[in-house]
Formats: sequence, structure tokens, C-alpha cells
Amino acid sequence: MSKNLSHLSGRKGLTDNLFDRYGQLIKGDDAAKADDLNKLADEFLIGTSSIYGATTFYDFLKPENQGKKIYVCNGSACLCADTQPALKKKLLDHFSEDQIGEMCCLGRCHENHAFYFEGNNYSGNSIQNMEAIINEGYASPDHYVVKVLGPVILTKSFADIKTYYQPLDEVLQKSSEDLIKMIKNSGLRGRGGAGFPMGAKLEFCHQAQGDVKFIICNADEGDPGAYSDRYLLEQQPHSVLFGMLVAGYVTGAQHGVIYIRGEYPESVRVMEDAVQALEIANLAGQQILGSQFSFHFKIIKAQGAYICGEETALINSIEGQRPEVRTRPPYPAQYGLFGKPTIVSNVETLASLHYIIENGSEAYRSFGTELSTGTKLLSLDSHFTQPGIYEVEMGTPLQDVIDAAGGFRTKIKALHIGGPLGGLVPAHKISDLTIDFESFKQEGFLLGHASIVSIPETMPMIEYLRHLFEFAAHESCGKCFPCRLGTKRAEEMLRKSIEEEYQIDRILFDDLIHTLEIGSLCAHGGGIPLPVKNALHYFNEELSSHFSISSNVLVK
Ligand SMILES: Cc1cc2nc3c(=O)[nH]c(=O)nc-3n(C[C@H](O)[C@H](O)[C@H](O)COP(=O)(O)O)c2cc1C
Ligand code: SF4
Repeated sequence: MSKNLSHLSGRKGLTDNLFDRYGQLIKGDDAAKADDLNKLADEFLIGTSSIYGATTFYDFLKPENQGKKIYVCNGSACLCADTQPALKKKLLDHFSEDQIGEMCCLGRCHENHAFYFEGNNYSGNSIQNMEAIINEGYASPDHYVVKVLGPVILTKSFADIKTYYQPLDEVLQKSSEDLIKMIKNSGLRGRGGAGFPMGAKLEFCHQAQGDVKFIICNADEGDPGAYSDRYLLEQQPHSVLFGMLVAGYVTGAQHGVIYIRGEYPESVRVMEDAVQALEIANLAGQQILGSQFSFHFKIIKAQGAYICGEETALINSIEGQRPEVRTRPPYPAQYGLFGKPTIVSNVETLASLHYIIENGSEAYRSFGTELSTGTKLLSLDSHFTQPGIYEVEMGTPLQDVIDAAGGFRTKIKALHIGGPLGGLVPAHKISDLTIDFESFKQEGFLLGHASIVSIPETMPMIEYLRHLFEFAAHESCGKCFPCRLGTKRAEEMLRKSIEEEYQIDRILFDDLIHTLEIGSLCAHGGGIPLPVKNALHYFNEELSSHFSISSNVLVK
């Protein structure tokens, strides 16, 4: 992290935001012009190398991706559904090979065949309407089931703004301390992956000194296979905004940034409309509902980089710096955006606050388990008979969720749960798991953000591992050696073992995995070993021909 760059970018802050300006440099299919980048560098008093370093990081801004007209999803769910080769073949009737790029992932995991074209995502049967899509800008919204197993907290239907924001009156009468106590008592833990207690995070930021503070809603949902944040952004936008208002009031923050991944264009539009509606209703902006509390929303559209979901990379991204992970401490609650105390919270965590405020902490913690309270959204992929978003009470058996979704359409051998850094659950372990942080940890997996990608019997496990490392290498921020080099080397070894007469030295491979695990700066490099270790453990027999010693060696 460069404090100097944070300061320089912070002079214009969110009003004339440097990262926003990068996006505006792209005109049509052309890459940003060197002249424009130099001008920007001069304007912000930042060296050109910093500007080039930042802009060339992002998939949508990279010069090598300019000229692309259409993007095919290369996420894990589309890979496992095996829909993309046929899709690409059909697209070649309309576009040249050079014009077809890749994006990861479009969150259309429930019906696959996913692609992005001119500000809209398409999936399922959309390809049948390609002429209309190209010539008339035809948009085809997707449909998926939304089911509930337990209380309805996150998927409750929305009546109108007035009714929904009524509890805000009560919030504005209370002290920060009382609200923090309430949120702490609810037991709410972060839904972005790590499960950090929300109340404690708010308390740290509340206690941090500073006139200017920020609330960042992390809507960069990058886990391939996950689309539960997309559901909330598009179908329940006010639950997210309400949560941000509460977090702002509690901590004394006046600014809320919603950082939404560029792969979700529809989410950006819905959130923009929702913010505008709040401004009109005096529920955002100066002196909300006549109180002393002012809170301004800013939506930032990201530019395609998985690592920007990591909270410190995300902060660097908003500042217009190259989105590398920062070393901690200091933590964002003390030293975050533009060096100011900042809360970074996941969409679903923020969306959970409305229920707590309206019904009290006891009501919330009466659901779930002692340590994992409330409900969790799960994203189910197209291998389920009824794919979609499932709101599930914490502690619910995983098998019950599968039954509610009508089981699987095809034979599956494993479930990859919790994104690329989550565990690989072999089919026979499903009955041992309940949906809560502790159960997954105890069994050697990770609940994470709770996306479920089904790995069919027909998918070779070695190919899935190669895909994971390709993803990890592409998305590594490059800040630390183990991840920058290790993910690439692992991908090369796996690829070679698939394409050539080559067996991977298992001791070397285990050593690499171990180095990634203990030597990486953040949970990207540190987390990717988990699914790999699960695969080596549970699919040892299937994988053995790719390794030079197939016994149960170092990795347990
Ligand atoms: C590689 C990586 C990617 C991440 N991606 C996301 C993401 O897309 N969304 C998210 O909310 N958290 C993501 N996180 C976790 C964030 O760093 C952070 O813990 C989270 O936003 C905090 O919010 P919560 O406490 O509400 O979970 C990611 C972490 C890592 C290491
Ligand atoms: S582990 Fe990877 S993503 Fe994380 S800091 Fe290191 S290089 Fe960056």
C-alpha cells in the first residue's frame, strides 16, 4: 500500500474518483489511450507508472482485452455443466474468434450457457435469440427459484419504501452503543467468507478516531458459482441499503460505497435506481428524516478482478491504486479508504441487519446454532433439479437442502462449496454436514459464501484442479511470492500431466501446496490448498496416475 497514493487519490475522494475515471477512459472497444492516462496522472499528481500499473491489472481495462465484442463465462459452474464449447461455436457464426473474450463468472450458474454482450448478461436459451440480441439489444432476464428452509429473513417480500424504512426512525433515536450491543447479541457473523462478528467490527470502527469514515458494501461477489449477492442486489436492494444506513449511523460514517462487480451490469442498474429512490424520499443525503445523520451513497462499478473482493485490495481499487492486498495491521476499521476508518462488509451481512433491527437480537439468534445464528443464502447450480437461491436456517442438514432442490439431474461425485477457496465435499460426506461455519470446519471444509458447484461423475478431477489453479494464477494480485509463483507452477504441472506423458512429483507438489498455505499473505493463496488437499485425500485413486508416488504421502 502506498500511503502517499492514498492521500493523493483521497484529495478528490469519491466525488471525482480516480477508479471511476479509469472506466470512463474506455471508449467503445478501444483501450485507454496513453495520452489520456498521462493526463490523468498529471491531474491526480500520480506517477504514470502507478496509473498504468493499476489500469492494466483489470480484465476490462487491459489493452489485450480491447476489441472484444462479447464475453463467454469461464466460471466453474459453466465448466462443470460443459455448456461453453457449444455456446462459443454458435457465437462464431456472428463474431470472429478475436472478438470473443472470457469473463469469470456471470452468476448465471443456475442455467449456464452464459455470456455478456453490450451491458447485459445472457444465459440458458438466450443464444437462440442471437439475432434479436445483436440487432435490437434484446435483453432476457433470467429466472431461478427462491426457496426457504426455515425463517424468512433475507428473502422476505418488499412492500414499499415507507413501510420498509420505518425501523430507521427507531435507529435514529438510539445510541450507537445500544445498537452495537444489539447487533453483537444477535450473533451475526460476516457472510463474505470469514465469518467475523459484525457487531465487533462495527464497534472497532465506532471507536476509531476520525471525522470522516466510510462504509463499503462488498458487492464484488467473485466466487464462481455464487449468485446470492446478485439476488440481493437485484431483488432486495433496499435490504442492502438499509444495512449500510445502520452501519453508517452506528459508526459515524457519512459515506457509503457500493462496489459492484462489472460482471453484474443488471445489479448496477437496480442499485442506482434504488439509491435514487432513497434520495427522493430523504432516506439518503443530508439530514436524513430531519435528523443530524447524513449519509451519501456512491456506486462504483468494478472492472473485472476477483482479488478486489478481498477487502484491502478492494480499498486500493477504489483509491485507483493497483489492487494488491495490504498487509494488516492496520485493519480497515482503523485505517481504510483514503486512510480513514472503514467498514467493509458483505452484501448479505448488511442485508441481515433489517431483521435484527425490526425484530430484535433475541429473535435473530433464536434461529440457527449457538455460534452460527440466523439464516444463510445458498446458490445452487444447474446440476440440481431446482437450481436457485435457497435461504436456509443455519444448522440445517445439507442433505435437506439437496432434497428441497429435488436432488441432482445427473450423477455427481463432489460438491465444491464456498467458492474456489472452499472445500471439495465428496458425495459420501454430504450427510455429515450441516449448513453452519462449525460443521464445515470440523469436517475439513469451509462454508465460505456458500455457493455450490456440482462436479459431475464425468468431470475428471485432475481437470477440475487444473481449472482451479488456472483461476488462482489469473486472479493472484502478485504481491507475495508463494501465490504469484506457486499458483502458476501448480497449474503448469497439472496441465502437463493431462496433456503429456508426465507424472507430477507428489512430494514436490505437496511442498508447493504447503508453501502456499503457510506463506501466502492473504486467503487467496492461503486458501486454494484446501480444495486441492480435499481432492488429493478423497480422490487419491482417481488422481494417482498423474502423480509419481500415489501413496498417501504428506498431504492428509
Ligand atoms: C481472494 C478473496 C476474495 C474475496 N472476495 C469476496 C467477495 O467477493 N465478497 C465479499 O463479501 N468478501 C470477499 N472476501 C472477504 C473479504 O476480504 C472480507 O472478509 C469481507 O468482505 C468482509 O465482510 P463480512 O464480514 O461481511 O463477511 C474475499 C476474500 C479473499 C481473500
Ligand atoms: S496470496 Fe496471492 S492474492 Fe493474496 S497477497 Fe499474495 S499474491 Fe496477492
